Amino acid sequence: MRLVKKAAAIAVASMMVMSMAGCGSKPAETTAAATEAATEAASEAATEAAEAAASEVAAVSGATVDVSDKKVGISIYKFDDNFMTLYRTELERYLTEELGFKKENVVIQDGKGDQAEQTNQIQNFITQKYDVLILNLVQASSAPEITDMCKEAGIPVVYINREPDVAEEERWASEKIQATYVGCDARQSGTYQGEEILETSNKGDINGDGKVSYIMIQGDPENVDAQYRTEFSVKALTDAGVEVEELLKQRGDWDQAKAQQIAQDALNQYGDKIEVIFCNNDAMALGALQAIEAAGRKVNEDVYLVGVDALTEAVQNVLDGKQTGTVFNDHFTQAKMAADLAVKYLSGEAVEPVNMVDYIKVTKDNAQQILDQLK
Ligand code: GAL
Repeated sequence: MRLVKKAAAIAVASMMVMSMAGCGSKPAETTAAATEAATEAASEAATEAAEAAASEVAAVSGATVDVSDKKVGISIYKFDDNFMTLYRTELERYLTEELGFKKENVVIQDGKGDQAEQTNQIQNFITQKYDVLILNLVQASSAPEITDMCKEAGIPVVYINREPDVAEEERWASEKIQATYVGCDARQSGTYQGEEILETSNKGDINGDGKVSYIMIQGDPENVDAQYRTEFSVKALTDAGVEVEELLKQRGDWDQAKAQQIAQDALNQYGDKIEVIFCNNDAMALGALQAIEAAGRKVNEDVYLVGVDALTEAVQNVLDGKQTGTVFNDHFTQAKMAADLAVKYLSGEAVEPVNMVDYIKVTKDNAQQILDQLK
């Protein structure tokens, strides 16, 4: 191991200094020169050792562990997802550049939206004796099966983004299983979306008929993020005493092209009856915007449009008045937290079963600030 080698180098260098200094038969200059050379070698080795220590020993909230030979297996539900691409890029950067894991020891697999395929990948990580896994499941409902596989092999798991159900999370605590979840409470993002509509000059009632008529473009409805955002965005309106009318609710699976089609069909069918288009994420809001513009309609004048994630393009659209608002799904903090918890497991520390990161509401007022943060 590198660290051990460095320490040995320092020991050898100092032994050289000691033995040369003690050799009385040598002329003084030679001894001094030898001492200087040896001291230099020692200090060089010490600097290198310090650098190695900084890059290979991850220190997370007091826990220190040598990660130079630790292997992290990561599986993302599918690579073809805008938000999860930002997340996985940050996860890899943080693990390798900040925590000092070797690039070749951080392996990221594409679950391709197929649970059977992903379960196979996880099985391979287990066979290859990975030290810790970070998993974004295709189906959160597979968590019990996957958790048991990892538990048998003694490998800790950090689940991200797709939350297993409460019963499963409680089981980790009660059975002392090394499994944990990092994510955001999607109720909060839904509520922020509703508030963004309430904060408009007419509280979403563009045509003044006393009710807000909306369409809802959902993510993958198996996913709690999609369920909660759908429910809580509308709940924020009804809680504020606003009457609502749902014209359409359809799944767009987090996908821009699908959402564009749904919005296009809805605009054809309902025309200017639609006052609000709620999208469970920004990729779908970008798709809806294409359909809105193609239909010759204008966001914030004759239709409101909200999303979640704070994709750069969407935040720019908020600034430019082409999207009413979004909600920052903070992938930086989530990636950091997931990686830090993986390190805690590696250092033998206990970890809480559920770890939540706050969402941030994004409107024209703070869009520039969020955009700067994203760069
Ligand atoms: C959500 C995110 C979506 C999509 C989904 C995948 O949190 O808002 O854009 O990435 O996760 O599970």
